Amino acid sequence: MLSQNILEMRHIHKEFPGVTALDNVDFTVRRGEVHVLVGENGAGKSTLMKILSGVYSADSYTGEVVIDGKIQRFRSIKDGEKAGVAVIYQELTLIKYMNVYENIFLGNEIVRNGLIDWDTAYIEARKLMEQVGLPVNPAEKVLNLGIGTQQLIEIAKAIAKKASILVLDEPTSSLTEKEAEHLLELIRAFRRQNITCIFISHKLKEVFQIADRITVLRDGRTAGTYDAADITEDKLISLMVGRELTQRFPPSKRNPADINKNEAALEIRNWTVFNPVTGRVALDNINLSVRKGEILGISGLMGAGRTELCLSLLGVWGKKISGEALLFGKTVSTQNPSEVIGAGIDYLSEDRKGSGLVLIQNVRNNMALPSLYHRLSGGFIRQDEELAQVEQMIKSLRIKTPSVEQLVQNLSGGNQQKVALGKWLLTKPRVLILDEPTRGIDVGAKYEIYTIMQNLAEAGIAIIMISSELPEILGMSDRILVMYEGKITGELSRAEATQEKIIAYAIGEK
Ligand SMILES: Nc1ncnc2c1ncn2[C@@H]1O[C@H](COP(=O)(O)OP(=O)(O)OP(=O)(O)O)[C@@H](O)[C@H]1O
Ligand SMILES: [Mg+2]
Repeated sequence: MLSQNILEMRHIHKEFPGVTALDNVDFTVRRGEVHVLVGENGAGKSTLMKILSGVYSADSYTGEVVIDGKIQRFRSIKDGEKAGVAVIYQELTLIKYMNVYENIFLGNEIVRNGLIDWDTAYIEARKLMEQVGLPVNPAEKVLNLGIGTQQLIEIAKAIAKKASILVLDEPTSSLTEKEAEHLLELIRAFRRQNITCIFISHKLKEVFQIADRITVLRDGRTAGTYDAADITEDKLISLMVGRELTQRFPPSKRNPADINKNEAALEIRNWTVFNPVTGRVALDNINLSVRKGEILGISGLMGAGRTELCLSLLGVWGKKISGEALLFGKTVSTQNPSEVIGAGIDYLSEDRKGSGLVLIQNVRNNMALPSLYHRLSGGFIRQDEELAQVEQMIKSLRIKTPSVEQLVQNLSGGNQQKVALGKWLLTKPRVLILDEPTRGIDVGAKYEIYTIMQNLAEAGIAIIMISSELPEILGMSDRILVMYEGKITGELSRAEATQEKIIAYAIGEK
């Protein structure tokens, strides 16, 4: 008889140098359920899943992993896969230069008479693509596919391995709304086929859409497991952050009428840019300005051109750029990033890996690098000042790291994002462009980042915030621009903005 619990992780304890990542964690998953794992950045979610999947071998932790009643001691991911565990990671792992079916069957090749049978692989891949609802030719190179599609191919790959426990670690953080919905639908279909899913997410709305049960991790310990139907969002948040969080956004002390009197910090005029690959117009005559002390929100669906706008301003993307960028009335040369940054415009990229963090360097060097020139005297860096500033930033952003010497690659995903933000804040920019600043960040830390943004704006810094999350746009912006297909389609003041109005502009309905 199969037991009701497909998985029991008992008394799991895992240490890294200087960090107790998991402290006596118990985690039980029922057969066929969708079990959501939530918790603050650094709570231990990914680590627990890496133990389950064999990334961390059995001799690197204490405690027991029991699958289908049997104690498992995995030495590698291969062992985990054999026992039916498949993981879809925060960062995708497909090989870009191979095509879809090669990727799906990589390491799991169909062999006939001692040879890899690619014809059958192609046919099987086609069936799998149907199963995950992907109208893509299996012979297509992964390179040509968007992130949402790649995510689904990862899932097809897991199904091909006949996974019975599918782990998805923040699968929707880079997906469009539509792709995310498709993914949730797919997980529901798995549930009907009795495939068990463990799902990690910081998006509480989707947590409640999909969860049968929810387990909260806090500081490496279990803070409880609940039936989704029995717990409210507020209760869940207080379990995650260990305190009541009554407001999601810090109140703004700034008065819109005063902000409107401030001088323009950054102005972009008649900005037109062509896509270097397709040759089509990517940005069509963009005009915008952001004032000193203003938070300007830019909303729009993914692909509307928001990130391209930033990248073209920095001089790292786009062809045949025409138009003008002015900083406090003076033209800025936008040929390359160092000139733009030197002029006082900073950009926090949406892409953590590409955000200029050097993963194999420590927290201190990563944070201190772009602001070095602030601390130079006579050719020397004032080391004490540097250390003090970095430590202050770690404190105010509540970055979870044992010390300033920790390598960035050893931080949890959300804490890496905070380091990226911190390094730009140290440069004391005049204009700060934040592209999806809270992606992958837990609710408590979001509030802290918002507070910092408010403080910066109060100190006169102009902030442009690109965000796909409407509550964030509405909660933080003094003024909102909406983009659709490379154009600005709408402008709304804080007072007049609503979700409905923004969406109408964002889908080109107005
Ligand atoms: N390879 C490592 N070396 C040292 N410390 C690590 C390593 N991997 C994780 N940690 C630490 O273990 C703790 C748990 O990290 P983990 O990645 O499991 O968090 P998480 O809950 O997944 O967070 P997030 O929501 O930010 O992804 C963190 O303090 C992290 O810094
Ligand atoms: Mg994680």
